Amino acid sequence: MHYNKVHLIYFSPTHTSAKIAYAIAEGLETDTFFETDITHEAPEHIENIEEELTIIAVPVYGGRVAETAIERLQKFSAHNTPAVPVVVYGNRDYDDALKELCDTVAKLGFIPVAAGAFIGEHSYSRENMPIAAGRPDAADLQKATEFGKEIMKKVSSIQSLESISAVQVKGNFPYKQKGPSTPQAPVTDNSLCTLCEYCIDICPTHAISVRDGEMFSNPESCIKCCACVKDCPEGARTFDTPYTAMLHANFSARKEPELFIK
Ligand SMILES: Cc1cc2nc3c(=O)[nH]c(=O)nc-3n(C[C@H](O)[C@H](O)[C@H](O)COP(=O)(O)O)c2cc1C
Repeated sequence: MHYNKVHLIYFSPTHTSAKIAYAIAEGLETDTFFETDITHEAPEHIENIEEELTIIAVPVYGGRVAETAIERLQKFSAHNTPAVPVVVYGNRDYDDALKELCDTVAKLGFIPVAAGAFIGEHSYSRENMPIAAGRPDAADLQKATEFGKEIMKKVSSIQSLESISAVQVKGNFPYKQKGPSTPQAPVTDNSLCTLCEYCIDICPTHAISVRDGEMFSNPESCIKCCACVKDCPEGARTFDTPYTAMLHANFSARKEPELFIK
C-alpha cells in the first residue's frame, strides 16, 4: 500500500516526544503532512483519520502512558489506519507504556504496524543532577529517521491492511499499577518572576493562574510535567522532588531506543 500523507499526533509538554515524532516523519518522506498537538487540549470534535499513516508519540509517566494523553487520544477514531505508537521515557524504563499505547490506539481503530520506545531528557533532570540531559540527541534523531524509512518500506510492502496483525511490543497486561502522584506542584521565585504569564499559556492542564499578584499552581490539576520549569524565560519556576537525586544516581547509564517493526 502506498501512503503519501502522514499525520503526527503528540502530547509533549517538554518537547522530546514531539522531536522524535518529527524525526520519524522525516524518514517517511511523504508529500503531505498534518499534525495534531494534543499537549494543551484535545480536539473539540472527534477527528477521523483514515488515509494517513499516523505517528502517535507520548511520554511515559510512572511506567504508563501519561494519563492526560490517554484521555485526549479518545477524541480520535480510525478505520484500519496504519499507526506507529511511540513512547518517550526519561532513561529509567518504559515498563508497560508502549503496550498500553498500542492497545489504546488499536481500540480507536488504528493498526500498529511498528512501534518504538525512545529516550528523552527526564522531566526531573536538573543542571546539577542530569538524567538523559539533551536527549533526544543527534544519534537518537538519526535512529528515528532511519526508523521512519524502515516503516515506509514495510507499509509499502503490505497488500491489504485487513490481513496484517498488530506489531508485538514489550510490556505486560495488566499494566503496571499507578503510584500516587506527588502532592506538591512547582513553585515560583517571585524575585525572578516578571508575571509574563508564559507558564499559564504552556501548562498542558491549565493548572496555573495568578492569585494575589503571584503565580499559583493548583496541585490537583498539575501533572508535574515540568513544562513551566523548563520553559520559564526567567528560570523562576522550580520543582524539587527527591526523584531527581534517585534517578540521577540509578539511571544515568545511557539507554538506547528500542524499535519494533517485524
Ligand atoms: C510525572 C512523570 C513521571 C515520569 N515517569 C517516568 C518513568 O516511569 N520512566 C521514565 O524513564 N521516565 C519517566 N518520566 C520522564 C518522561 O517520560 C520524559 O522526560 C519524557 O521525555 C517527557 O516527554 P515530553 O518531553 O514529550 O514531555 C516521567 C516524567 C514525569 C513528569
